[in-house]
Amino acid sequence: MTIPEPQLSRYHHPVSVDALQRAFKTFLDPTRVRILALLEREELAVQELMDVLGMAQSRVSRHLAILREVGLLADRRDGTFVFYRFTPPQDAPWRDTWALVSKNLTNDPHRERDATALERVLQSRAARSRSFFDSVGPEWDALRKVFNDEALRAHAVARLVSPRLRVLDVGTGTGILAIELARLGLEVVAIDHSSRMLDAARAKIEAAGDLSVNLRRGEASELPLVDGEVNAAFAHMVVQYLPSPGEAIREMARVVAPGGTVVIVDFLRHTHEWMREELGVTWLGFEPQEIESWFDEAGLGEFRLEVHQGLSQNRDLPATFIASAWTPE
Ligand SMILES: C[S@@+](CC[C@H](N)C(=O)[O-])C[C@H]1O[C@@H](n2cnc3c(N)ncnc32)[C@H](O)[C@@H]1O
Repeated sequence: MTIPEPQLSRYHHPVSVDALQRAFKTFLDPTRVRILALLEREELAVQELMDVLGMAQSRVSRHLAILREVGLLADRRDGTFVFYRFTPPQDAPWRDTWALVSKNLTNDPHRERDATALERVLQSRAARSRSFFDSVGPEWDALRKVFNDEALRAHAVARLVSPRLRVLDVGTGTGILAIELARLGLEVVAIDHSSRMLDAARAKIEAAGDLSVNLRRGEASELPLVDGEVNAAFAHMVVQYLPSPGEAIREMARVVAPGGTVVIVDFLRHTHEWMREELGVTWLGFEPQEIESWFDEAGLGEFRLEVHQGLSQNRDLPATFIASAWTPE
């Protein structure tokens, strides 16, 4: 007859009696167990623990020191505050003893009281910021200037755009915008009719590293793209140079897929004649109505126009506009 092998216990490693005793001793104190149960749920500062437990600082700090000593707590400094949190034990005696203790905590008379007091502490954290903003109200716009976050906001808003979008940059020039768009993760097709500008753009794109910019030479009135090739078409300070702005906007609408957008940035009608000589422009800006009628004639819908006052510090500049509309679905 064969004698069955003895069954291996689930814990084949002999549990150190010493460690087990230390674990029991640590969890024997009900305040320490309450502290751990609280810190298991939320990271708390000493003052917050004092509020929840209704105990003096010396007592709370003594227990925290013991718990930290045995490795059950981690702390994090936040300015002048120190926040504590529970670090679940990994060693068998500690882990199993804590599992046993916390399973039985449901019957602890303090449990509900502590949970309510913890909720109050968390509410008072929220109340602090709420009362701050209640007192500030619309003055926040002046206060928030300390962030100086215009560029940051623009980048953050750009994250809302799907990175799989294909975008056309018409009249890319030295490629500044094409690079910016590609850095946001968009696939960019950039066109220009000037070979010198394309050379400059190529050099800049290569220097910028591994970016998805496809440079093509072409006329705005006859874009070197097939119908619906991109999801959006963009022309920044280009339309004022075009012989026929309406024709170019029709071309942009043609190469954008259904449900895509056409965006134009340029000057509103102005009288700055010096721009013809110094900047080579063909048109001294445009009237909102004529821009809208070009978008309309190109079959684009939901036209929007936004005006920005000239912002240059060294030159009196005309107002600019951002116009956009959508291709039909
Ligand atoms: C003022 S730059 C703007 C460059 C760029 N969009 C920017 O904002 O930095 C105008 C660009 O449009 C290009 N351009 C002008 N007329 C064009 C046309 N008919 N077809 C294609 N590109 C044209 C020029 O070669 C030039 O690079």
